[in-house]
Amino acid sequence: MYRLFPLFPEAVLAPPAFVSELMGLSVYQHLDGVLDDILDDEPEARERVRTLLREVMTDELAHVGQRRNFLGPLGLRAAHATVESMYRAFFRDIPETKLLFNVEQMVQDGRRSTTAAFASLDASLRAPTMYTWLSSTGA
Ligand SMILES: [Fe+2]
Repeated sequence: MYRLFPLFPEAVLAPPAFVSELMGLSVYQHLDGVLDDILDDEPEARERVRTLLREVMTDELAHVGQRRNFLGPLGLRAAHATVESMYRAFFRDIPETKLLFNVEQMVQDGRRSTTAAFASLDASLRAPTMYTWLSSTGA
């Protein structure tokens, strides 16, 4: 799937790129959640992996925010409409996913994220803009 990305213009690429970053963050969050079970008998390794994982998650969160900034109302709508199918297709290709993670929960997390992105877009559209502020001051 990823090798097809460079073939499309940014407007088409932005929604799946945003969802891809969300998927990465979901994987790391859920990996963090099962780390105690997986490395139950290796406390030093568990803490080292957790420390590294948190650094990666911080980076990934920045990617999600960056990609969110490339989306307007149409892009967000496209991301929201495709998030579930992209998550399911991605995780279906990784057989270990079913053994390690709750895929349904991951899909719900992805849907909740795009819903939250919609809410923030709505809020930003309702917020007074610089133009309306300048107009109200008579400038
Ligand atoms: Fe990323």
